[in-house]
Formats: sequence, structure tokens, C-alpha cells
Amino acid sequence: MNLTELNSTATAMVAPGKGILAADESSGTIKKRFDAIGVESTEANRRDYREMLFRSKEAMSQYISGVILYDETIWQDAKDGMPLIKLIEESGAIPGIKVDEGTQALPMCPGELVTVGLDKLAERLKKYYERGARFAKWRAVIDIGSGIPSITAISVNAHALARYAALCQAAQIVPIVEPEVLMDGGHDIDRCFDVTQRVLNKTFQELRVQRVALEGMVLKPNMAVAGKKSPKKASVEEVAEKTVRMLKACVPAAVPGIAFLSGGQSDEEATAHLNAMHKLGPLPWGLTFSYGRALQAAPQKAWSGKAENVAAGQRAFSHRARMNGLAAKGEWASSLEKKAA
Ligand code: 13P
Repeated sequence: MNLTELNSTATAMVAPGKGILAADESSGTIKKRFDAIGVESTEANRRDYREMLFRSKEAMSQYISGVILYDETIWQDAKDGMPLIKLIEESGAIPGIKVDEGTQALPMCPGELVTVGLDKLAERLKKYYERGARFAKWRAVIDIGSGIPSITAISVNAHALARYAALCQAAQIVPIVEPEVLMDGGHDIDRCFDVTQRVLNKTFQELRVQRVALEGMVLKPNMAVAGKKSPKKASVEEVAEKTVRMLKACVPAAVPGIAFLSGGQSDEEATAHLNAMHKLGPLPWGLTFSYGRALQAAPQKAWSGKAENVAAGQRAFSHRARMNGLAAKGEWASSLEKKAA
């Protein structure tokens, strides 16, 4: 393992004013997104859509540090025959790959899930590295509800995250370690704060036990937010203050960067929260976005599967990327959104 190289990749992934595009929706998830805009989820449509994003010059060269791909996409070619991964490299962004194989029910723990995909992972990582991937992602899912999460679910998911991270580093690939505490429930922000702290502490304990080099990884956490069904929504300032406090307590400064998931927040909320956190700096690690929905909802709607809408889709993507790029430096203001609209 070459830790200097892993560290410089991780540092580039969270470079000031840049963040990660999570375009790694599984076939099931991208179908849901396409259903919402009335587009059939065929291989060609998925290719055309992602090609539109990766050819968005402004977004890709100025605000996007890396792109997380799904297995299908990393092997796909653009319409003109150019591999999609080459489009990403040529824009100056780093290609990455989702390597977990989704979740399964966790035995003896009703309602809880464990992320799978460790079998043969070493061999798969080797092929992805040869294809050009320099970082990977594995998402663990923790739900908050009555009596959950159990310590069992937290432990097995943390163990798998650390197993994955160690295998990545041995393959010279930077692991994005993503323990996502869902915001689906009716819990308040303080419950999210407590559960996320427990999850992060267990995750870092496992990372240490399994000898993962913290300097060669990126953490992808949720923010401390109230559940979507909670009657008590937290303000932007409260989310920022509690999230920064939570991360400072749990994430060693040796970790080069933290890149948030958006998790179902609205586009503008996800941007405002990140921006407000930077106002509380200086922070001990790079802090940026690794958004899926909060970067793609607008371009998906603008595109709606029509070739004549590609330019509009690219404008919508570049706008969100620029807003989040500014937020990643604490330089965003809601008036910038209105100006564009
Ligand atoms: P969202 O930003 O839509 O939550 O997706 C990010 C991601 O990669 C989840 O694994």
C-alpha cells in the first residue's frame, strides 16, 4: 500500500470548493428516479443521462472533484464510443466506484439491514483499479425507530465497512466509508445526533482494529437532522452546530475529508447546511458534499429524457454544482439561487 498516494487522492476528493457527484444509483434506484420524470430505464437512457452529466463542462471542471459510478456505468461507452470513465478523467475529476452489493435483512434483528458484497471484493477491486477507479464507496444503512438501531446492527455494519476499507487500501483505492443513519423516521435532531455518534464511534473503532489508515480514507456521513416525519424541524443553524459538534467528537483529524450524503434533504437545504457549517470553521478536515439527489433532482427534471433538453439539464446540474461548491467554502447565499431562477 502506498499511503502517500492514497492520501493525495483523498485530499483531492475534498479540495476546497469541490465535492463529489454520487451518480452510482443501482438499477432499482435509477428506475425510481426515471419513473418520476416519465423516462424508461433502459441501458441507453441511463447512458445518455449520465453522459449528459459527465459532459457538463463547467460543473465537472470547476466544482466536481470525483464521480461515484455504478458497475454498469464504469464499463459503458458514450454515444461516440468514448468510455464514460474517460470523459470523467478528461474533465479533471477522479472516477470512483460503488462496490457494495446492497442490503439484506439482518437475521434476528427485525427491520434492520446489513450491507453485503465482501465476497470476491478483492478481485473486483483489482479490475476496477485497472479500469481507472481510484476510490470506492460502501454504504451501510442504519434506521432509527422504536427499539432500533440495535447494537447488533451497528456492530455488523461497522465491521463490514472496515473490512471493505482495508481491502480497498490494499488495492490502492481510497475507501469512502459511508455509515448512513436514515432521516426517514419521526425522531428529532437530538436522537439523530445520539445514534449517529454511536454509529461513528463504532465505525472508527472497527477501522482501527482492522488497521485502516485514516489518512487514506474519506468519511461520508449523514448530517444531524430531524427525521422527515418529525413535527420538530431543526433550523439551518442548529443542524450546522450539532453536526460539526458531533463530527469533532467522533472523527479524528487524521481523516483528510468528510463528504456528506444528502439523504432526502431538499436541494437548497443540503446546500444551506453545508454552507452554515463552514461559517463555524476552521475545521480539522476538508468538509464537502457527496450528493446524489441534491445534485441530480434538478437536472433530471430539466432533461426529462429528451435530447433537445440536454443543454438545460447541463445548466441545471452546473448551477447546483456551483451552489454546493460555494457552500463548501462558506461562500453561498440564498440570493444566488434566486438570481439564477
Ligand atoms: P443522496 O445524496 O441522494 O443521499 O445519495 C448519496 C449517496 O451516495 C447515498 O449512498
